[in-house]
Amino acid sequence: MMASNDVTGRAELLRIAAEMRRHCMKMQRMKSGNGKWHSIQDRKTVLITGATSGIGLALAQEFAREGCRLVLAASRENRLKMVAAKLEREFPTSVIGAICQDLSEDGGGIGLYGKVKARNISVDVLVNNAGFGLAGEEISLSLGRERDMIGVNISAVTELTHLFLRDMCRRGGGKILNVASVGAFQPGPYTAAYYATKAYVANYSRALRVEAKKYGVQVCVLCPGTTRTAFFEKTGSEIPVWAMSARKVAKAAFRGLERNREVIIPGAGNRLLQLLPQRVRQMGVAFLKR
Ligand SMILES: NC(=O)c1ccc[n+]([C@@H]2O[C@H](COP(=O)([O-])OP(=O)(O)OC[C@H]3O[C@@H](n4cnc5c(N)ncnc54)[C@H](OP(=O)(O)O)[C@@H]3O)[C@@H](O)[C@H]2O)c1
Repeated sequence: MMASNDVTGRAELLRIAAEMRRHCMKMQRMKSGNGKWHSIQDRKTVLITGATSGIGLALAQEFAREGCRLVLAASRENRLKMVAAKLEREFPTSVIGAICQDLSEDGGGIGLYGKVKARNISVDVLVNNAGFGLAGEEISLSLGRERDMIGVNISAVTELTHLFLRDMCRRGGGKILNVASVGAFQPGPYTAAYYATKAYVANYSRALRVEAKKYGVQVCVLCPGTTRTAFFEKTGSEIPVWAMSARKVAKAAFRGLERNREVIIPGAGNRLLQLLPQRVRQMGVAFLKR
């Protein structure tokens, strides 16, 4: 009886020791400096647009898992509240704000910035993820929807990046992750305007990265390939069988941001495809999207 108690006690001690070692390693990894994250006392605040679904939601979970505080933004209030409550249950004390803002509106990015400032929130990491695509022949698309898309994918990204970058440069630190796409690297027939918006995001971010470096601010661009999200449903197309999971994309994005990669392309297959001549990739897009 005594011996069995000893064994149980020792097993429990070993479990506690392993738990403490894991915790210490995590704290070391999370210590600020050297491009890493934070200690529990110095939790980074991350603003994520489009945090209610797909890649944005997976990124929110990834940052929360690492102990960050989240400010979530999206346009649909009910879903935003639901997702914020779910994240808070999964990662207690992670959500410090859930802000509803339609980024397709004129000045939508400026509006979101104002709402964040009104709550006295200082953003350490900005993730411009909100976006959507339109597929089809240019002349068949709604011009109004195209303007909305340019509003979310370009105007709001520019406004938010500009305003938060200014604050970060003044403070001498911060990180910005803008979500483009592998579609940024070649013209996309039958999804022309969408691919062009992503080319803008990629080039804008890469240029700002050079400007921001001397202020200690890091700008990275995430270029996912096909990812299994609501994105396709919204464009009225089927999700391709080769699509990556949003979780894998978010993990690669987090790692890339931690390592301060200029361009983050999740998935070896997606990186290999970029070695094909641009003309071939462009023809591939035309074939798939027609
Ligand atoms: N899925 C892919 O294959 C893929 C590939 C490459 C790049 N991307 C990019 O990844 C990003 C995330 O897309 P996803 O695939 O995760 O799509 P998703 O599941 O449809 O999520 C899009 C997110 O953006 C928000 N959003 C959309 N319109 C908005 C608006 N007008 N104002 C504010 N928020 C808005 C949505 O929230 P509300 O609906 O509540 O507004 C939602 O949270 C996008 O920038 C997309 O271009 C996706």
